[in-house]
Amino acid sequence: MNIEHNKSLKEYNTFGIDVTASEFVKVTSETALKDLLLKDPKKRFFIISGGSNMLLTKDIDTLVLHIAITGITVVEEFKDSIIISANAGENWHDFVLYCINQGYGGLENLSLIPGYVGSAPIQNIGAYGVELKDTFVSCEAIHISSGEKHIFSNKDCKFGYRNSIFKSDVKDEFIITKVTFKLSKNNHILNTSYGAIENALKENGITSPTIKDVSEAVIQIRQSKLPDPNEIGNSGSFFKNPVISIDHFSRLQKTYPDIPFYKIDNQTIKVPAGWLIEQSGFKGKRWGDAGVHEKQALVLVNYNNATGVEILDLSKKIQSKIKDRFDINLEIEVNII
Ligand code: EPU
Repeated sequence: MNIEHNKSLKEYNTFGIDVTASEFVKVTSETALKDLLLKDPKKRFFIISGGSNMLLTKDIDTLVLHIAITGITVVEEFKDSIIISANAGENWHDFVLYCINQGYGGLENLSLIPGYVGSAPIQNIGAYGVELKDTFVSCEAIHISSGEKHIFSNKDCKFGYRNSIFKSDVKDEFIITKVTFKLSKNNHILNTSYGAIENALKENGITSPTIKDVSEAVIQIRQSKLPDPNEIGNSGSFFKNPVISIDHFSRLQKTYPDIPFYKIDNQTIKVPAGWLIEQSGFKGKRWGDAGVHEKQALVLVNYNNATGVEILDLSKKIQSKIKDRFDINLEIEVNII
């Protein structure tokens, strides 16, 4: 196995932050991964796959494992559905497109999300009314300290809004190697109720959409609002949309009658962080190479050479303003390293 030294991680994180790994290795098989873990059980590792949900604020002085195990397998096929697995190192969007081209439905709303398949369950990726957990069957993961393989069912993963067991109870304990989904082969259940999707389909003159039409609509929406990490470094939504009490919301609504919201239950309301940030005057602003995206205020961007600390400082500035103005604590969604 080829261990590289003093390797820049700029290409391995979608924020494009230029930190260095003291040691770096690309892992292309499960056997190689197990061998590495068992060779020195006390060694510490840092796992990076698509690097699409992290902000690197310092050099990494442990061995960085870049998980690049690829492959897609049909596990079982039924009349109306299919069980399909993808290895952790498959590019998420390529996997979504592969499924759509085969006629398998369920992932179309999750088109164009950056990152790899293996990271998708960690934060239960979601967009336009659909979350990974809706089609997720199970995942395989290697226990870092023992090298043993575990299988986590949908229930085991304790999925929540941008959350799972891999961000809580077993944080940093496992490396996900494979994810299995149940997708539809016909009678697809399309989720087009999200306003932006409805509008895009209408604009495209489509009245009875296919899964491909929905995917194309999602791609169109994302491309119009979200920066392409290959052009401008970013990690998607930097903060979670905060959930506040109905009382708190009613007070805010008196001052800000236009505040958008989604009702969660009788006690709580989710408000879009992007709106709060835009109202606070940050949208499109830039400090050096660290900035707030001009079309979606929830996305912080690295225009070229920002450091992770500069992006983090900007996020703290935003958090403090939102706290002062709306009495809301914005929680960071991206992993800060
Ligand atoms: N808004 C503003 N200003 C902004 C951005 C948004 O006023 O700069 C308002 C919009 O007008 C709209 C509301 O906020 O009323 C919601 O905006 P949008 O539909 O863009 O969605 P979001 O809540 O900002 C969430 C996810 C995105 C996902 C979209 C679509 C989170 C943290 N983010 O964003 O996920 O693509 O919904 O489903 O839940 C990601 O996780 O990286 C991500 C991009």
